[in-house]
Amino acid sequence: MDPRTTHRWSKYWILALGCFVLAALAGTAFRVGFTTGALPFELAFDNVRRAHSHLMFFSWVTPALMALMVSRLDRRLREGFGRPMEWVLGANLVLGLCSFLPFALDGYKTTGVLGVEMPLSIIFSTASMFAWYAFAWLYWKRTRALRRDTTLALWDVAVVALVVSSIGAWARGALMGMGVEDVFLTDGAVHFFLGLFSDGWLGIALLGLVHDHLGVEMRGKRGWLTWLIVAGLPITFLLGMRSAIVPHELRQMAALGGLMVGVGFVGHTVVLWRARRARSGLWRMVLVFLGLKGLAQMLFIVPAVAAWAETAGLRIMYLHVLFLGAVSLGLVESARRTWGNVRPRHSRWMQAAVVGLLVTMLPTTGLWPPQLLGAYRLWIAAVGSLLPIAAAVWILAAQPKLLSTRPRNARAQPTDEKTRRSPLDDHTHGASSHLAASSSESSGVVPHS
Ligand code: HEM
Repeated sequence: MDPRTTHRWSKYWILALGCFVLAALAGTAFRVGFTTGALPFELAFDNVRRAHSHLMFFSWVTPALMALMVSRLDRRLREGFGRPMEWVLGANLVLGLCSFLPFALDGYKTTGVLGVEMPLSIIFSTASMFAWYAFAWLYWKRTRALRRDTTLALWDVAVVALVVSSIGAWARGALMGMGVEDVFLTDGAVHFFLGLFSDGWLGIALLGLVHDHLGVEMRGKRGWLTWLIVAGLPITFLLGMRSAIVPHELRQMAALGGLMVGVGFVGHTVVLWRARRARSGLWRMVLVFLGLKGLAQMLFIVPAVAAWAETAGLRIMYLHVLFLGAVSLGLVESARRTWGNVRPRHSRWMQAAVVGLLVTMLPTTGLWPPQLLGAYRLWIAAVGSLLPIAAAVWILAAQPKLLSTRPRNARAQPTDEKTRRSPLDDHTHGASSHLAASSSESSGVVPHS
């Protein structure tokens, strides 16, 4: 792969990882504050939680995913994405970052700047959505002529889900503007955004990325698994809402949608698990978390299980199994194989750190007997939350060294190099996946359907 292309896109991933560290520090501050009873500078817990989740969404997972998608697509394109896409990735990062402080200080309320009160958090997060639209436009423009293999089909769905999810955010703003206080509508708009963004954009784009790396095609008979996710996606968000405010019939429809999405994710996971290339690196760990997410989604459609999960406080755990366990680990492994900017030992430490964080989160849920470890359990969760931060800082610290060891004659490499296989992408064929997958995967369990 042309090192110029490598650096062009990997730098956005590296900057996004910097935002991960900042957002995770806010998460740690939340955990420590929870233990001591107060946050520094009299910050409100709700605001810090919002600052954390927005920065993770807008400036870590979204630009990192986009950079990886673009970099892998570049290999298939005669004319790559180029500078306009760089602007889009930069805008995603900067706008998300700009909303961090206003969210931490004032949440959705106005922030005073030089004596003027402005809804800065809303302004910056709304502007982020325009950066998503720009990404969707460039993605469509550049890839529309390409043949749709499983990866591209999944990315098409993911990009549509990203754009459609923003309707929830617009609707929430419009309802606020019109003074509508109906909880079903206002909560519904928020959950519509969250559901489509997390399962639709993050979950499906990650599936596409893993398919691309493992070279697994799922056309024909197995294609229905993707259709199940697509069909169930628009209504599952209702399951995230408090059951008391969702009419019974709608909840039943949502349960059916949840079942479809859950089966789709678990089905994809099983197919990917059996691929020969899944045996190396972190892929199997990523698939364990994706599978767990799908299974939980299927179980949560049972009202008794959903009620138990609510009282046991499993929501945050469930979210982090998807966002940290599956998506963030997947982004690290994909970067390692696409650009080589993460060393194998770094990714193994990141895996251990993520597992460590999730295990130390257990004592904060109802799954842990409260008498066990007493007050220490909150401190354990606080310390555990530092583990992925340490692993990410280690990856960042290694970047100058990795960049300086790139071949000096990098600039002289021919541009058609980017259409060849990357040696970093061990046995992954990136561009040629749709052409060559059959021969290399046929010895594995998952050939083309
Ligand atoms: C080191 C990594 C992370 C740490 C230490 C961390 C910590 C936390 C904490 C302490 C909370 C609040 C828990 C509560 O309300 O009891 C939280 C909530 C949340 N986190 Fe994370 N988190 C991490 C990674 C991530 C990632 C990678 C994402 C998404 C990409 C994410 C998205 C969220 C969301 C959406 C919420 C819930 C927000 C809400 O309910 O308003 N987190 N996290």
